[in-house]
Amino acid sequence: LRCCLPLVFLLLMQKVSLLEIEGFVGDTVILPCLSSGKELPNKVTVFWRFRDSGTVYDIFDSRASLDEQDVPFRGRVDSFPDEWTKGNFSIKLSRLKKTDGGMYTCFIPGVNIQTTIYLIVNGTSEHLTRHQYFSNKQKRAFTEQNAVT
Ligand SMILES: *[C@@H]1O[C@H](CO)[C@@H](O)[C@H](O)[C@H]1NC(C)=O
Ligand SMILES: *[C@@H]1O[C@H](CO)[C@@H](O)[C@H](O)[C@H]1NC(C)=O
Repeated sequence: LRCCLPLVFLLLMQKVSLLEIEGFVGDTVILPCLSSGKELPNKVTVFWRFRDSGTVYDIFDSRASLDEQDVPFRGRVDSFPDEWTKGNFSIKLSRLKKTDGGMYTCFIPGVNIQTTIYLIVNGTSEHLTRHQYFSNKQKRAFTEQNAVT
């Protein structure tokens, strides 16, 4: 329970629907961040953070700025500059590690939009029950399929 309290607290505070993204170790996932049709300033700034403090990806004045990027994310994060003008600041996180699991936020100060994403990486202990459920279901489906053929 201790693990999930900050999450519950955040949900109560912000009354937002939390976006959950799931991936397996080694996968590539897209973490979405959109300006939701709000008019953007000419030069846009976006901060992607992990667990509220780790720097994942920064866009300063419409340019990627990776100087402050945390070491664990180096070389594993891409954005899509062609999409930025459309208000799409989604990032792609490659070669997922278990330690990538947790809360990501994308903040666009110019339009005051914050998106919160909870990334679940297969194998993290907090979600073991859930994954066990799914993996048992898969096993059962597999067994049934084999019984038919
Ligand atoms: C944002 O860009 C990414 C990468 O090209 C794409 O996968 C995603 O569908 C785009 N989202 C929207 C809403 O256009
Ligand atoms: C996690 O993923 C690995 C492959 O990346 C797979 O072998 C394993 O069964 C998965 N575990 C669960 C609990 O889904």
